[in-house]
Amino acid sequence: MSTTAFPESKCMISGQSVTPFLYFGMMPIANGFLTPDQFANEPRFELEVGLCETSGMVQLTKFVPPEAMFHGDYAFFSSTSAHMAEHFRGFAAMVRERYVPGENPFVVEMGSNDGIMLRHFAAQGIPHLGIEPSANVAQKAVEHGVRTISEFFCKELGERIADEYGRADAFLGANVMCHIPTLHSVAAGIKKLLKPKGVLIFEDPYLGDIVEKTSYDQIYDEHSSYFSALSVDFWFNQHEMELIDLQPQTTHGGSMRYVIANKGARNKSPIVETIKAKERRLGLNRLETMADFARRVAASRESLRSVLSELNAQGKRVAGYGATSKSTTVLNYCGLGPTEVAFISDTTPTKIGKYSPGVHIPIRTPEEFHSANPDVALLFAWNHANEILAKEARLGKFGGKWLLYVPEVHFR
Ligand code: SAH
Ligand code: TMP
Repeated sequence: MSTTAFPESKCMISGQSVTPFLYFGMMPIANGFLTPDQFANEPRFELEVGLCETSGMVQLTKFVPPEAMFHGDYAFFSSTSAHMAEHFRGFAAMVRERYVPGENPFVVEMGSNDGIMLRHFAAQGIPHLGIEPSANVAQKAVEHGVRTISEFFCKELGERIADEYGRADAFLGANVMCHIPTLHSVAAGIKKLLKPKGVLIFEDPYLGDIVEKTSYDQIYDEHSSYFSALSVDFWFNQHEMELIDLQPQTTHGGSMRYVIANKGARNKSPIVETIKAKERRLGLNRLETMADFARRVAASRESLRSVLSELNAQGKRVAGYGATSKSTTVLNYCGLGPTEVAFISDTTPTKIGKYSPGVHIPIRTPEEFHSANPDVALLFAWNHANEILAKEARLGKFGGKWLLYVPEVHFR
């Protein structure tokens, strides 16, 4: 693995320098599941994260071009998780009740994927628009009656939508803001598109949870930013906007929902200052905290490797469960391949029959997982642990043990 020094990179929101604190080496595209004829030309890039102490922003130091990740063959369909479908039903209901209770509000969502959230607005006849550049998942949304355009959101698109469709009452995003390196362009586009009293509500995996749980597998090419209340407020203050509420979420291993409005346009909840003060106390904007996190990440790798090599020596059969994008970071960073993890079970039709990025572990159906009945299932979809363990207990077909690596390596 290459350990070349990085060119100095700049913070996406402050323009100041970013200090690298964790280097993963050469990585493949996290969602780039592939066929054997593609092995020889598989693209790789250097994965590294850094901190800007001015803004508190944690971000990648090098970015993969968006078109290499989000395209007509994107592998992630939001609706594969029943739990997430329920989560987004609740998200939509909360937005409707709390933020756009009036008649015929206009609701826009970026990264709307297969329409998992907007379908609830569509079902009520509420004017809406999804912005989803990955054409295959956007097509699914259209089939569900969700009005969708297949483009990358940016300042110019925000202006165009405002001209063509009118201004929005709410702009929503889930697990998408963290995917976009051009943050000021996005904020400017949202500002143009929203009505003066409109709200931006978005949620993403939360830096506080990643650091606390050593869940380094959230770090991969698609996630260019790892937000905190400190960094989000710093960013929107530059657009005359401010954080007015924060709503912690349990999804994706711990997320934060950020509510933002034009400065002074809406009441601000006291939780904003409470959480920002807590983040300062925890040092989420300090390099020493990140250096400690990096040490725990390295220790987690050693622990997982040693448990798997012991299982291997005992002749135990290990399979992965959930071919998540997160698993690409774990497998490649820990140097685990088909010798340690014979195959990975996944429900997504477009992943089945392909191989995992970088280490080329075959992806198989849940039926094959049950017929193989491995001794140990390494749970890569640990953020869906409750849903998965309950489902497997109900099915009663898996007799082995669960192996998890968050917050530390343990069996369940
Ligand atoms: N909101 C869904 C999907 C998250 S995956 C959920 O939480 O399950 C992120 C999605 O954002 C992908 O479908 C990707 O195609 C889309 N995306 C990436 N960059 C984008 C951009 N600039 N504008 C709009 N969508 C984008
Ligand atoms: P995510 O962690 O990014 O949401 O991805 C979850 C992956 O796990 C996705 O590829 C679907 C897969 N999965 C299963 O195979 N079985 C399940 O029961 C669930 C919930 C997810």
